[in-house]
Amino acid sequence: MTVSNENGQGLRPTREGLAYEADLSLRRLRPRLDAEWDRSQTPEEAICRFESRLAEHWPSLFMLLFELYGQRYDFFYHLEQILLTAARGWADRPEALRELDAHRINEPDWFQSERIVGGALYVDLFSENLGKLRAHIPYFQKLGLTYLHLMPLFAVRPGDSDGGYAISNYRSIDPRIGTIDDLRTLADDLREAGIVLVVDFVFNHTADDHVWAQNAQAGEREFQDYYYMFPDRTMPDRYEQTLREIFPTVRRGNFTWHEGMGKWVWTTFNSFQWDLNYSNPAVFRAMLDELLFIANMGVDILRLDAVAFIWKRLGTSCENQPEAHAVIRAFNAAARIAAPGLLFKSEAIVHPDEVVRYVSTEECQVSYNPTLMALLWESLATREVKLLTRSLSHRHNLPPGTTWTNYLRCHDDIGWTFDNQDAEAIGINAFDHRKFLNEFYTGQFPGSFARGVPFQHNPQTGDMRISGTMASLAGLEQAIEADSAELKESAIRRMLLLYAVTLSIGGIPLLYLGEEWGMLNDYDFVNDPAKAGDTRWIHRPKMRWEFLEELKDDGSIRKRIFTSAQRMIQLRKDLPALAGLQMELIATDNPHVLAYVRAHEGNRLLVLANFSDEPQTVAGNRLRTAGLGRFFQDRIRGTTLATSVDVTLEAYGFLWLERV
Ligand code: GLC
Ligand code: GLC
Repeated sequence: MTVSNENGQGLRPTREGLAYEADLSLRRLRPRLDAEWDRSQTPEEAICRFESRLAEHWPSLFMLLFELYGQRYDFFYHLEQILLTAARGWADRPEALRELDAHRINEPDWFQSERIVGGALYVDLFSENLGKLRAHIPYFQKLGLTYLHLMPLFAVRPGDSDGGYAISNYRSIDPRIGTIDDLRTLADDLREAGIVLVVDFVFNHTADDHVWAQNAQAGEREFQDYYYMFPDRTMPDRYEQTLREIFPTVRRGNFTWHEGMGKWVWTTFNSFQWDLNYSNPAVFRAMLDELLFIANMGVDILRLDAVAFIWKRLGTSCENQPEAHAVIRAFNAAARIAAPGLLFKSEAIVHPDEVVRYVSTEECQVSYNPTLMALLWESLATREVKLLTRSLSHRHNLPPGTTWTNYLRCHDDIGWTFDNQDAEAIGINAFDHRKFLNEFYTGQFPGSFARGVPFQHNPQTGDMRISGTMASLAGLEQAIEADSAELKESAIRRMLLLYAVTLSIGGIPLLYLGEEWGMLNDYDFVNDPAKAGDTRWIHRPKMRWEFLEELKDDGSIRKRIFTSAQRMIQLRKDLPALAGLQMELIATDNPHVLAYVRAHEGNRLLVLANFSDEPQTVAGNRLRTAGLGRFFQDRIRGTTLATSVDVTLEAYGFLWLERV
């Protein structure tokens, strides 16, 4: 299909040429596709819908696959297999989901509503199993959640499974948690309750006991090609020259020797997580099959795990490669055809410039916002919002039809992934600053309120990340130990301040469950040999339902955090200005106060947030010119204020202001 110029040299095919090829290939594949439909099972009308979406999205799917695999002699065979996989996925899609697909095609911005508020949890730690989780739907409703991310729940290898991220079978649930039918039932119940279901798609690697890995270990070439394997150190050594180490305290380097096969296996994360080889189209097809199977359980959003790592190229960091984007875009195009209601959320915990490259309607419609997360903690440590403001000023906007998830803590560590130039522009030395933040959040810096612990300290590079729960990092653990009313008050206010920002700044707020009542670090994880080596377990404690008894006790800290979070969530859902992403920063001339206006369809809300432990003032005329007119109301407290006087925020205080 390569066209030649007069001298007979190969040229890249033109876009028009490719469009023509796409059309031609579909006509050639037509008989195979027609034969695939079982018309006694799939209604004619459903086939028609598939066909019309195929006509719309096939050109992009074809071009992406051509970019990735077009040079192979067997390209056409793989193309056919991928198309048939998509058709089977649609044939297997339950009617209720097909209906939802139709709604979502008509209402593509459904996930940008102010009414979407998320929570994340580990099923086993929260409710033991999927069956019991259903009984907690009223709890999610009471808190106001409309989006639920269940941490990995598929069958995993025995022993350490990296918190479920070492999957041995994408089609069965970890038997300790339940069955596939339990997941289907839960998904139905959540849909009924208006709660969106989010599940991981762990597609960078499988566990070393996945059937593909087992076949590879049995010496089958076909399956060895599903992974990256090398007979000796030649290639691994060459790759290593430019690779980072993600889990350096677990094992040095990115490769693991497998005695049985006599080969080095590429393992970016733990030694038992084998990186999949997407340069092999059979891997793409096989994983598309798994993707559609998971979507058809009733999953609304797939969290694409570790997106940065899925393509390797010698001489690079093997992160964020152009082909990684092409692979995700191809999955997305296939999903538009076979499961059109499905969205992707990217987990790219990398440099902020790279994070946004995964976000578009053609790739991932939703993305974690790791930069905001890290800089909110940075602001609490420094008590200033300079770096946060600088970063937000040019990094908050995303393409239309996409959004952030804004979180404070998740199941992973905190890495200081801000941009060095953003820091330098305001006179901060990035290297020293990261060192300071690590000292601060591990409680070593004088005056620190935080009780975090190090994660993956690399003595060679000085790199380190932080583990710890939101409450422990915000000072509650230290305050409770000191039994100081004043310290407790500050810690609670810090937590509420962080909520006030993530619930209003633009994007889907995402709580890690337990945060809502101030769960502290759990130091007992060291007693479990499968967890002891990984400090992230410190912030993944078991849910203590007995603590919720305290929600009845008016004076309790837990009740105060819970009811405040709950109120802010309810309030958010009543403020149409908080839909979408649009956010405009307001200069307050006060280095401690973050200020921004949220606007959506003529509705406006001005948010002020004081990151210092002292009261701070913002000039009234600043607020007047930010569009508040003469009088405005704080929606949090219901008080009315005038812009004729300056506004004073108490220590860690915040306001959600609307013009009256
Ligand atoms: C993602 C997960 C993390 C896991 C890693 C490897 O980053 O969030 O928990 O360790 O991928 O799967
Ligand atoms: C995962 C890991 C985190 C690492 C990141 C790299 O999120 O949990 O530690 O920094 O991947 O992308």
